[in-house]
Amino acid sequence: MTSKIPTFTLNNGAKTPSIGYGTWQAQDEPALEIALEAGYRHIDTAYSYQNEKMIGNVLKRWISNGKLKREDIFLVTKLPITGNRPEGVAKYLKRSLENLQVGYVDLYLIHAPFGLQDSEGDYYIKDSDGNPYFDMSTDHIAIWKAMEEQVEAGLTKAIGLSNFNKSQIERILKNSKIKPSALQIELHAYLQQNELVDFCKENNILVTAYSPLGTPGANNFLEKIGLKLDLPDILGNPTVKAIAKKHSKTAAQVLLHFYVQKGWLPIPKSVNPERIKQNLDIFDFHLDQQDLHELKSLDAGIRIIDLAMFKGVENHPEFPFKDEKQKKISSMKL
Ligand SMILES: NC(=O)c1ccc[n+]([C@@H]2O[C@H](COP(=O)([O-])OP(=O)(O)OC[C@H]3O[C@@H](n4cnc5c(N)ncnc54)[C@H](OP(=O)(O)O)[C@@H]3O)[C@@H](O)[C@H]2O)c1
Repeated sequence: MTSKIPTFTLNNGAKTPSIGYGTWQAQDEPALEIALEAGYRHIDTAYSYQNEKMIGNVLKRWISNGKLKREDIFLVTKLPITGNRPEGVAKYLKRSLENLQVGYVDLYLIHAPFGLQDSEGDYYIKDSDGNPYFDMSTDHIAIWKAMEEQVEAGLTKAIGLSNFNKSQIERILKNSKIKPSALQIELHAYLQQNELVDFCKENNILVTAYSPLGTPGANNFLEKIGLKLDLPDILGNPTVKAIAKKHSKTAAQVLLHFYVQKGWLPIPKSVNPERIKQNLDIFDFHLDQQDLHELKSLDAGIRIIDLAMFKGVENHPEFPFKDEKQKKISSMKL
């Protein structure tokens, strides 16, 4: 039995569980059923994950048979990069709400700061040289205004960003009526992004940690589109394994507990029943100062999701990682 899940409070006053269920590459109803049975009440999806209908079907069933109320769930979805223009916001949020079969989401995020031309949500349409069709005119301020209109229309309770860098967030903070409630970025033991996380805390922006386990299954998807990543084995790291052994927990549990303790909201994805339950069972032990010190020292600036799957993205004016000096970036192979 999972212990009670602590909550985080967003800048709109809403509360969310401090850990959520990631659903990239989670396409089947049984896994989500198991996640809900286990106690997950924060669900992260995106228009581009193509699983909103599946999630909507499960939620509708749980709500109609009285096992859940809509307000029990903190539901997050994202504007696809093919919709990154003012008129794309209402269009794609409407589609997401129809797919999810709900009247509102709790948080709507701009999935990434750069834009592709509208190809109905399909990111992977390319020209004959393998180049995506970028839209170089991405205007964050205009898109954000359209995001604010969705809050005013009651279609989302909060709005936020994903994969944005500090200066991009600063620009939005300076030019907005409704401030971003959350930033979803890659965060794990090897990429702790302390400066960006501190900046978000100072500005009351909740930080969500994506790929918190180092996305060990990413190549299952990427190989289907001709790509492959050299993935670091965070779960197999000897320091993490030793701390896990000391507490009679798994490496994943130690990492997820560490992240929540740091104030990040991790959203691990699993479709395996045991791992789904295991990833939520992280609140019955304590990491001591030595554990915390060792886990913090694993930060190595290793970014896995460097967006290189979008060939030429570094030339987009809103490519977010231009000024980064990563010690090491995972290589992407064709
Ligand atoms: N905003 C963005 O651009 C963005 C980008 C990436 C991800 N995300 C979000 O973040 C979520 C999580 O990231 P992610 O899916 O990339 O990676 P992740 O959660 O770090 O890792 C998921 C992988 O780890 C395996 N796994 C899960 N629990 C495990 C455990 N306890 N022990 C060993 N292996 C375990 C899963 O396999 P099984 O399923 O077989 O257990 C799966 O292959 C996504 O699902 C998505 O919702 C957002």
